[in-house]
Amino acid sequence: MRLDIFTLFPEAFEWFSGQRHVQNAIREGHELRLLNYRDTTPLGAGQVDDAPYGGGAGMVMRVDVVDAALQHAYGDQRAGKRIVLLTPSGRLFDEALARELSEEPQLALLCGRYEGVDERVREHLATDAVSVGRYVLSGGELAAMVIADAVIRKLPGALGHAESAVEESFSEALAGGPEYPHYTRPPNYRGWNVPEVLMSGDHEGIRTWRLERSRERSD
Ligand code: ADE
Repeated sequence: MRLDIFTLFPEAFEWFSGQRHVQNAIREGHELRLLNYRDTTPLGAGQVDDAPYGGGAGMVMRVDVVDAALQHAYGDQRAGKRIVLLTPSGRLFDEALARELSEEPQLALLCGRYEGVDERVREHLATDAVSVGRYVLSGGELAAMVIADAVIRKLPGALGHAESAVEESFSEALAGGPEYPHYTRPPNYRGWNVPEVLMSGDHEGIRTWRLERSRERSD
């Protein structure tokens, strides 16, 4: 996959880019690019936003600036590419959408800033509008990191242990349910005991117990 994140704050992704699963994915041939709208703005003095028509507080990201960034990255080859605008009012992000996006050969995440993004970006440039929750963040960067993280960990080779992505929360192996509880040593801590079955060596019993706990958590 080629994952492009368009942002005014590429430095916000430094920690994320260094994470092991991201580095693993890159080693496997996937690409992560951070593209700064300011580098390709057609306006003078690095301008990227403007006052809203109709008045009101704050500034709005301009459609021509976002279009120029896409043009610079893709030329006229935008057809078939998944271009996701991050916005609090978009489709709620979940495991199914993470899976769907992870199967795209090319994914662009558009971070907004300031009071918002000119609506024509959503109408004409983006293929999707996605939200990570019904609350307002100061920009799309944290939302982009959430999505990039959930998507990248699904790419083959990103996680060290092939199993860990298969049987994690909401996966098919758990019938779409949340993850089961985990325990490690010590077996008894302040009288809080690890469930007997997990220490029994009974693999079928453990499997059934985990499935049941996962189901309980989705109720
Ligand atoms: N930008 C600001 N808030 C957001 C949210 N909740 N989801 C996605 N993008 C956002």
